[in-house]
Amino acid sequence: MNLVTRICLPNLRRLSFALGFALAIALPASAQFPLQQNDVVCLIGNALADRMQHDGWMETLIQSPMAGKNLSFRNLAVSGDTVTSRPRSKGVPSPEDYLARCKADVIFVIFGCNKSFGGEPKPAQFKSDLAALLESPEPHARTAAAAVKDFWGPADPTKGTMQTQIADIEEKIKVPKHLTGQMARAYRIGGLVYHSEAHCATCHQPDGKGLDPAFPPLVGSPWVTGSEERFTKIALHGLHGKIEVNGKVYDPEKGVPPMTSFEALLGDDEMAAVLTYVGNSWGNKAAPVLPETVKKVRAANKNRSTFWKPEELLKDHPTE
Ligand code: HEC
Repeated sequence: MNLVTRICLPNLRRLSFALGFALAIALPASAQFPLQQNDVVCLIGNALADRMQHDGWMETLIQSPMAGKNLSFRNLAVSGDTVTSRPRSKGVPSPEDYLARCKADVIFVIFGCNKSFGGEPKPAQFKSDLAALLESPEPHARTAAAAVKDFWGPADPTKGTMQTQIADIEEKIKVPKHLTGQMARAYRIGGLVYHSEAHCATCHQPDGKGLDPAFPPLVGSPWVTGSEERFTKIALHGLHGKIEVNGKVYDPEKGVPPMTSFEALLGDDEMAAVLTYVGNSWGNKAAPVLPETVKKVRAANKNRSTFWKPEELLKDHPTE
């Protein structure tokens, strides 16, 4: 049985970033582990891992370069669990029973520091509890322990915080002069959505310039400033396939992960706001996207459950 361990980082952006790179593009040597055909991957841990059941980004990032491996994921994490205590209601199988029932081949251990319930953080105790969990004759566990070492620094709960400083973000959002009234308000809300943990800025970066070789830029991108329906479709259902942006090619075969779907995460108002923000920041100038437009595009594609392929989008909305 493989045991792969990640521990809490003080902010989700660094975690998803670390996962994006560590798993989809290039694993640091110390964190490498094999995933084999038909492996069942189980997540245990507390709030951060528990919340992952609502998005599926990590699964997406892992599944995409492993097409055909038939991996399955089971999320067994429960908020409030600690390394040493994982109580369950009477009649519910113990966490260990559950792992056995799932026939886990690989376990991701994602424990945070339980700040809300555990009183003052006790990093030393946390480290030694985790070390005990990792004490295993399995060679995989030793690999996992080595991987965890990479994260000891950022995982120190006495530094940093899980919370994005909304006030800091708000201060940085400067509404461009051509947007006034309702549109200026939408732009401000869009900025908050854009810079929220694990939203657009995580991948496309706070300055919209993207990050080579994985995340294409939004600055000056025709996918942003062209057809608003095409732009809305990308944000609603995600995108996967070889694309060109500003003369550079972003190719899944070279490790570009899929852009995830925001359909379930953002309402019409928030989606319209973030698209208006992206369309009018860093020198971009596009017509504001209205909530009614998002509503229409959402309804017209409500049965869609997969990422868009660039060819599909270009067929319906050829580049301008
Ligand atoms: C998990 C990382 C990730 C997040 C979060 C993300 N994107 Fe993307 N995005 C990508 C990747 C990767 C691509 C290219 C995918 C491909 O071609 O297969 C992409 C492509 C795009 C494109 C088309 C190419 C371009 O650069 O213009 C647009 C537009 C876009 N994203 C907008 C957004 C917006 C708006 C948000 C937030 C609501 C967002 N993205 C959030 C990773 C992300």
